[in-house]
Amino acid sequence: MKRIVIAIDGYSACGKSTTAKAVASKLGYAYIDTGAMYRAATLYFHEHYINLTDPKAVGQALEQIHISFIFNSKIDQSETYLNGLNVEDEIRKMYISENVSEVSALPEVRKYMVGLQKKMGKKRGVVMDGRDIGTEVFPDAELKIFMVADMNIRAHRRQLELLERKQVVPLNEIIDNIQKRDILDTTRKEGPLRKAEDAFILDSTYITIEEQVDFIINLAVGKMIDANRLLLV
Ligand code: C5P
Repeated sequence: MKRIVIAIDGYSACGKSTTAKAVASKLGYAYIDTGAMYRAATLYFHEHYINLTDPKAVGQALEQIHISFIFNSKIDQSETYLNGLNVEDEIRKMYISENVSEVSALPEVRKYMVGLQKKMGKKRGVVMDGRDIGTEVFPDAELKIFMVADMNIRAHRRQLELLERKQVVPLNEIIDNIQKRDILDTTRKEGPLRKAEDAFILDSTYITIEEQVDFIINLAVGKMIDANRLLLV
């Protein structure tokens, strides 16, 4: 069976990662959380006081960054490692969310991350979520999904996720952060968040995670059948 690439893009906190993870697990595909990569870079820049307005300093810092995803069987999930250290909890904190869109807008950072992500998905059989996967990283993805959801629902879901990580953040702070990131992510010059023309819209406002997963799996199966037909021709 030919393995395909599933690109899931969309606004912050629409449920992309949860859905993408479940889809990957059902299909036996790898899951790559590209947001975690930008978050890890933001953490590195923060810890090393990198001047974001100095492209040379940014370039040199990027050379020192090694990001990997390691599966933790205890929680049945992959976790993000930065230079050998587990940073999964740290990168989800608000101070990272508040700075990540500024970091991810830097052309050097985008070039570096997009290059890595292309390599990671080279063998296909991957579900990748982010902002520019269907447009920049894998414009040839067999299946592209663009996720949207109502702002209040997004903020409530993000608040619950943070609570699960023992972080108590007021709803207005979360809404403010999500709105700011939406604006920065959609208006930046390099790889802005936008729907690829051939992406299917998935509105997660009123549907369960299972329904979101089923929606994508049904489309994926169709795309796999198409891909295999092409192989046989
Ligand atoms: O997906 P998540 O909310 O963790 O992403 C954090 C930030 O990383 C986004 O707000 C965006 O600025 C950046 N990002 C990006 N391109 C991607 C994935 C994430 O610019 N492919």
